Amino acid sequence: MDNPVSIITGAGTGIGRALAVKLANSHHNVIAVGRRAEPLAELATQHSHIQACPADVSTPAGLEAIETAVADRSVRYVVHNAGVLEPVGPLLEQSADALRQSLAINVEAPLALSARLRPRMMSGGRILHISSGAAHRALPGWGAYCLSKAALHMAYQVIAAELADSHIAIGSLRPGVVDTPMQALIRAQSVEDFPAVESFRAMKAQGDLTDAQTVAVFIEAVLSLPDAQAFSAKEWDIRVDGEALLGYPP
Ligand SMILES: NC(=O)c1ccc[n+]([C@@H]2O[C@H](COP(=O)([O-])OP(=O)(O)OC[C@H]3O[C@@H](n4cnc5c(N)ncnc54)[C@H](OP(=O)(O)O)[C@@H]3O)[C@@H](O)[C@H]2O)c1
Repeated sequence: MDNPVSIITGAGTGIGRALAVKLANSHHNVIAVGRRAEPLAELATQHSHIQACPADVSTPAGLEAIETAVADRSVRYVVHNAGVLEPVGPLLEQSADALRQSLAINVEAPLALSARLRPRMMSGGRILHISSGAAHRALPGWGAYCLSKAALHMAYQVIAAELADSHIAIGSLRPGVVDTPMQALIRAQSVEDFPAVESFRAMKAQGDLTDAQTVAVFIEAVLSLPDAQAFSAKEWDIRVDGEALLGYPP
C-alpha cells in the first residue's frame, strides 16, 4: 500500500514546526526540512510520524537530500514555508550577494523543489506557498523580503494557471503576524534599517500576534479543502478567511 508523505520546509521553528506537529497528529507522514539538524531531530524524537531531513533548500545537495528522504513514496503535500527576512535595510544599499541569497531561499528553492517533486505527487496532491502581506505592500527596509515574496506570489499565480487541468493543485496562504523567531528578528531591527519596527514591537507588547499553533490549524484547513479549484483560486489570508475556516476569530 502507498504510504504518502508530506514535506514541510522550515519545519524546525515557528509556523513550520507547528504545522509539522499538527499534520503528524492528524496521522500524516511528515518530512521536516531545515538547515539546523537539532530542532528537527527533537521533533522526530517526539513524533513518530515526523522524519527529520536536515537540508538547505537553496542548494542542489539540499534538494537531493529531500528527494532521498521521500524514497519510493508518493507526495501528498509540499508546504514551502522556509523563508528569510534578511537582508534588512534600504534596498539600494544591499549587496548583490545578499539579494541573491534572499531570492535563492524565498523564490528559487520553492520552484526547484516543486519541479523536482511534481512527478512524485499523488493524485490530489497539493503545493502550498507561504506568502506574506509583504508580497503586496512596499515596506521601507524590507525590500529584499517584499520583492522575494511578491515573486513567490506571482509564481503561485502562474503555476496555478499552468496546473489548471492537472492532478495536483497549488495554493498560497498569508499567515498574519505570527509569534515566531522571525518576528523576534523583526523587533530587533534598528529604526534606521526598518522604520516601521516600533509598530511590530507594539503588536508584541499588546499581545496582538497570532500563535503558530492557530496558524497551523488554518493551514491544515486550507490544505484539506475538498475542492482543488477553490484551494487554488485565491490567496488564503488568515485575517480574511480565518474565522470562516476555523469557526472562531484567529
Ligand atoms: N511570522 C510572521 O509574522 C510571518 C508573516 C508572514 C509570513 N511569514 C512566513 O512564514 C514562514 C515561516 O516563518 P516563521 O515566522 O515561522 O519564522 P522562522 O521560525 O524563522 O521560520 C523560518 C524557517 O525557515 C528555515 N529556513 C530558512 N532558510 C532555510 C533554508 N535555506 N533551507 C531550509 N530551511 C530554511 C529556518 O530554519 P533553519 O535556519 O534551521 O534553516 C526556520 O525554521 C516564512 O516563509 C515567512 O516569510 C511569517
